[in-house]
Amino acid sequence: MTWRRFPLKLVEGVPIMEPIADNWEMIANFQARPDDLLIATYPKAGTTWMQEIVDLICHDGNAGKARRAPTHVRIPFLEICSPPPVPSGVEVINKIASPRVIKTHLPFQLVPKSFWEHNCKVIYVARNAKDNLVSYYHFDRMNLTQPEPGTWEEYIGKFTQGNVGWGSWYDHVRGYWEERDKRRMLYAFYEDMKEDPKREILKVMKFLEKELSDDVVDKIIHHTSFQVMKDNPMANYSSFPETIFKQSISSFMRKGDVGDWKTHFTVAQSEAFDEDYRRKMAGTSLRFRILF
Ligand code: PPS
Repeated sequence: MTWRRFPLKLVEGVPIMEPIADNWEMIANFQARPDDLLIATYPKAGTTWMQEIVDLICHDGNAGKARRAPTHVRIPFLEICSPPPVPSGVEVINKIASPRVIKTHLPFQLVPKSFWEHNCKVIYVARNAKDNLVSYYHFDRMNLTQPEPGTWEEYIGKFTQGNVGWGSWYDHVRGYWEERDKRRMLYAFYEDMKEDPKREILKVMKFLEKELSDDVVDKIIHHTSFQVMKDNPMANYSSFPETIFKQSISSFMRKGDVGDWKTHFTVAQSEAFDEDYRRKMAGTSLRFRILF
């Protein structure tokens, strides 16, 4: 196996990058520990941002400690399977001392059962569908391990049909939402984090049972702001070679805005998207405040 744009393969009906599907048994059998913390997201929903917030909270706002290694080393990606000799996410995580923080994009039903058997805490971050789509489109342009996104128009079709890595956005956000009260889960929203980072960081602290002074919280707000993270080589994925993330096509830390979809969708595309959205999201109490 070498780095390339891997095709998607179905795992229990969910399209996922081929190397992940080919190693599915190892991932499904992953053994969580009771004090593991899982950060779960649909791709491009604000994972890296939440990872930085959690890492800083766990290190009492010490920015030096949070810069000890790139994001994916500090908080490894559960299901990732890279060409050898790079170890898989599972192999890396198995060797980490507890307490561990783990990233996943797996939809709820594919999360290894041991997380639920041990009642592990989960922080889920959801982002409104249109901004999430825009961010994923640009990511698929620059991430040379994901399928080509095609044209913008084609990509809207793929996203709405759930024919992208990790499957349907609609099923993903709903899957965790329906489980939120049955698990130890904090369900956070990207738009809330943008609106009032302090309020959302305090929620994460409470969930992690961590008390920090106001000064420390202010430091965390500063170090997890878009611009500071964009300039931080330990948070902006500049450690990934251009053969994997070609950031000259589009930066990992691209815009970090709410409502950027308005610069991408035509009125007709937006109306068609909304109609389809209402159908797919019928019957759920899950609401995103920036969408229409
Ligand atoms: S990944 O590859 O799935 O882990 O990507 P993920 O981190 O989930 O999403 C990347 C998008 O999140 C934006 N981002 C931020 N926005 C605001 N503030 C901060 N601090 C921040 N950090 C990351 C990043 O810019 C991507 O969104 P877009 O819209 O593409 O800019």
